[in-house]
Amino acid sequence: MGGPILGETGSRRAVAVELAELESLRWGSFFGNDRPVELEIGTGKAGFLLRRARAHPDRNFLGIEWANKYYRYAVDRMERWKVVNVRLCRIDAAHFVRVVCPRNSLTALHVYHPDPWPKKRHHKRRLFQKPFVDAAQMRHAVRQISQFVSKQLKAH
Ligand SMILES: C[S@@+](CC[C@H](N)C(=O)[O-])C[C@H]1O[C@@H](n2cnc3c(N)ncnc32)[C@H](O)[C@@H]1O
Repeated sequence: MGGPILGETGSRRAVAVELAELESLRWGSFFGNDRPVELEIGTGKAGFLLRRARAHPDRNFLGIEWANKYYRYAVDRMERWKVVNVRLCRIDAAHFVRVVCPRNSLTALHVYHPDPWPKKRHHKRRLFQKPFVDAAQMRHAVRQISQFVSKQLKAH
C-alpha cells in the first residue's frame, strides 16, 4: 500500500475520502485549489480515471465507487501511481449527486458502463433512473450526457 502521497505544495494528502469531509462540500477547500472538477461515477478499478487525471494535471478529479473491493483497489492504484489530483470516495452515487454535490459545480461527469442489469426485475437497481438524471443535470455544467441518457430512458 502506498499511504498518503505528497501534493504539489508538499502537504500530505490521502486519496481516500472520509464521509465527514463531504459535509458542506466546497470544491475549492476540498482540493485546496480552484481548478475545474470532473466526477466519475462507478470507477470500477479506475483505469479511466487514472489515465484522465494523468493527462489533465490542471484539473481535479473525484471518483465514486460503491463496491468495496473495487474502491480499495482503485485507492491503492492511485497511491502507487502517486496521482495527486484524484480523490476517491465510497458512497452511493445517487445520494452524492442528489444531496452532497454543489449545484452547477462540475466541469464534466463521467459514467461508463454503470448498469449491467438486463433482467426486468433488476431494473430498479439501475443508477440511470429519472431522479438521478434530473439531479445530475442540475449539478453538471455540460448537459450532454444527461440528454443522451434521457433518450435511453424513454426507450425502456
Ligand atoms: C460495470 S462496472 C463498470 C466500471 C467502469 N466504469 C468500467 O467501465 O470499467 C459498474 C461500476 O459502477 C459501480 N456502481 C453502480 N452503481 C453505483 C452507485 N449507485 N454508486 C456508486 N457506484 C456504483 C459498481 O459498483 C461497478 O463497479
